[in-house]
Amino acid sequence: MTTFSNRVEQISISGIREVFEAAGDDAINLGLGQPDFPAPDHAHQAAVDAIQAGKADAYTENKGMHELREAISARYSQDLDVEVDPDDVITTAGGSEALHLAMEAHVEEGQEVIFPDPGFVAYDALTKLAGGKPVPVPLRDDLTIDPEAIEEAITEDTAAFVVNSPGNPTGAVSTEEDVREFARIADEHDVLCISDEVYQYFVFDGEHYSPIQFAESDNVVVVNGCSKAYSMTGWRLGWITGSSRRIERMIRVHQYIQACTSAPAQFAAEAALSGSQDVVQEMSDTFEERRDLVVNGLEEMGLDVPTPKGAFYVMPEVPEGWVDECISRGLIVVPGEAFGEQGKGYARLSYATSTEELEEALEIMREATEAVQ
Ligand SMILES: Cc1ncc(COP(=O)(O)O)c(C=O)c1O
Repeated sequence: MTTFSNRVEQISISGIREVFEAAGDDAINLGLGQPDFPAPDHAHQAAVDAIQAGKADAYTENKGMHELREAISARYSQDLDVEVDPDDVITTAGGSEALHLAMEAHVEEGQEVIFPDPGFVAYDALTKLAGGKPVPVPLRDDLTIDPEAIEEAITEDTAAFVVNSPGNPTGAVSTEEDVREFARIADEHDVLCISDEVYQYFVFDGEHYSPIQFAESDNVVVVNGCSKAYSMTGWRLGWITGSSRRIERMIRVHQYIQACTSAPAQFAAEAALSGSQDVVQEMSDTFEERRDLVVNGLEEMGLDVPTPKGAFYVMPEVPEGWVDECISRGLIVVPGEAFGEQGKGYARLSYATSTEELEEALEIMREATEAVQ
């Protein structure tokens, strides 16, 4: 008799969707994890041109077109001063597939995967799908992950630890010192560090650092993509990079679950990565202004809120009942527990929406705060 696998029975649809369903159609939505900008014109045009020229009809190389992987490699050398061989890149269906490849290729049945709690919902689910055991690690008060906490959680069964700076749901950015520690831990303990850097280009205070800049071994793989940086969530184009032997294992998985990423999306991504990066800076500047607006508003209400230094999320501590009060007033915010047990008592707000909507949203939050006090 056909039943369902244990792996799939251990996971469920993300709690975020339930919140969307609970709110009406005209609700203000601060639940979304995507920028509210169009993708760059030159990305649109490159896909249209490729389609019309009949260049996007066939499978590409499993890893993705060489030109696209060269464009990805060029970003690493320009932006992080890291040399990445285009052959050590697999383009994937978003960062989501890249995370999946990393887990499938490295996590043995029953092995442990350490990740931030609260953290991006996929880390827990993908660990379970790979047959692994999730080991969520609580964050510091400023919502960054403490390298010491990672080190303490490592056992002889640890396959990997995930770091995510700038972070979802927190907006927290790890310091250079911490990122150097992530690299040292991966080297010294001989465990894989999966560094999820999809918000790399949205850092407001300080700089983005990657453990791949500091690791001496090949124990770091980096996940990134076009979804957030270029507002291209619908194109489903991400990538993973790591050493040749790791890429060689991950391509085995990618070949059978995906074959290659969508060819039109590859042309669009290549144009986005190699064209002007002004659009990225404009988005980042806009997010920073909105961050200030939202953080000031929340502080005026008397809520405790660590100032996020990147991404487009803010995670205030909220009184019991606050999220429900917001939702019943037509404002979608996501309860912190959707991102892990330690998220309880927090809410995640995405400020990837217009200033006018954010101002309206702050007014509703003010009312919700008064209602629960
Ligand atoms: C931290 C993080 N990693 C990865 C992803 C995956 O995004 P995508 O598959 O669109 O690249 C997301 C999306 O919200 C995210 O927040």
